[in-house]
Amino acid sequence: MTETQKTATLTIDGESYELPIYSPSAGPDVLDIRKLYGTAGVFTYDPGFTSTASCDSTITFIDGGKGELLHRGYPIDQLAEKSHYLEVCYLLLNGELPSAAELEEFENIVTRHTMIHDQMHYLFRGFRRDAHPMAIMVGVVGAMSAFYHDSTDITDPRQREIAAFRLIAKMPTIAAAAYKYSIGQPFVHPRNDLDYASNFLHMCFSVPAEEYQINPILARAMDRIFTLHADHEQNASTSTVRLASSSGANPFACVAAGIACLWGPAHGGANQACLEMLGEIGSVDRIPEFIARAKDKNDPFRLMGFGHRVYKNFDPRAKVMKQSADEVLELLGVENNPKLQVAKALEEAAINDPYFAEKKLFPNVDFYSGIILEAMGFPTSMFTPIFALSRTVGWVSQWKEMLNDPQNKIGRPRQLYLGETERDYTDIENR
Ligand code: ACO
Repeated sequence: MTETQKTATLTIDGESYELPIYSPSAGPDVLDIRKLYGTAGVFTYDPGFTSTASCDSTITFIDGGKGELLHRGYPIDQLAEKSHYLEVCYLLLNGELPSAAELEEFENIVTRHTMIHDQMHYLFRGFRRDAHPMAIMVGVVGAMSAFYHDSTDITDPRQREIAAFRLIAKMPTIAAAAYKYSIGQPFVHPRNDLDYASNFLHMCFSVPAEEYQINPILARAMDRIFTLHADHEQNASTSTVRLASSSGANPFACVAAGIACLWGPAHGGANQACLEMLGEIGSVDRIPEFIARAKDKNDPFRLMGFGHRVYKNFDPRAKVMKQSADEVLELLGVENNPKLQVAKALEEAAINDPYFAEKKLFPNVDFYSGIILEAMGFPTSMFTPIFALSRTVGWVSQWKEMLNDPQNKIGRPRQLYLGETERDYTDIENR
């Protein structure tokens, strides 16, 4: 953060206040209002944080106008094409791409932390079989703090490191177990001879009765989905993790809070909602009806998988996801998948419609991901858990960065109070 010569002057009731301006390495300048309340006695008002930088960070940069996403400076399309998920995890956590030896050591550590405490299986069994896997994940990840006491002391750097490894390594095992439980199949333990994505497919689709053959193209597509979701700077769930952590809460509790936030249909739940919408539209000829509904102010319907708080151009992840959808469906011999046909025609119709063009609404990462996941054999209820496991490294990297920041203090937003002013209590008989 560089303090420039520039300042902003704010005048209130004839009194002027100078606000320092900082220039980031990329992106818009930032006004420092930290001393504003102390000097001018006013708060700023920004529901939804549309104009507020809540922290400084060196992890991820998004240029929403250009449709650009960089992790530690590297464009997401290059990472999706040339790298793989665990290498991107290393990059996000450590700031630089690993050497061959560093990568090998990192992969080895993650691989050897994938098993979960055996007693955690009883915890899964306490849930109803029809529980949503996200409900199970919120509970089980929060409960990790009851199983791994030796990595909850956030003042100890070594414990923080172990907690990070445990979260990244065990999340696929937990997500797969939530799925297996929901379909009444036995839990499948991780295998150390498999890579991260293949191991997840194995834990989800293998059964004791027969060998499960992992298709390397599907494993690559799975890995790419993980990579594309790995981090996205200060989004709602990441900000939730940071806010929860600002009180000094343990990492497992903070990540459970992030999972809870991600579950919502405006955030991680959008890929499930999008696939359900594509199914509801059903055929290309019904697209005009749904486009009209999305534009109708009196109809709450929105095109799921469309629009983004930050991207006002194509979400770069959506482009890679669309290409991946084509590859996976071709491999599986279902190029004529009706949902893919509806999705492509819907995208075409929406981007050529002035309503969506004026509001700068484009497909986001969720628009095509559900089609791929469904073709791989995942039920819609597993889409958000897969997002959660992919985003865990982002949450953990941001959490780690925050704890190393000397400016870290408890997050405590203020408010514009519009309620009653002080009044005397009225006895019940006089109300
Ligand atoms: N369909 C139709 N109209 C839309 C859509 C949509 N998907 N998204 C936004 N709009 C319209 C709004 O009605 C609003 O119109 P108005 O200005 O006339 O009132 C305008 O575009 C701006 O929308 P906001 O909701 O104010 O924008 P915001 O930045 O708060 O919302 C959001 C972003 C929540 C992602 C929104 O675009 C949306 O609901 N999209 C569908 C859900 C979705 O796909 N979420 C996934 C996000 S990506 C992720 O979390 C991984």
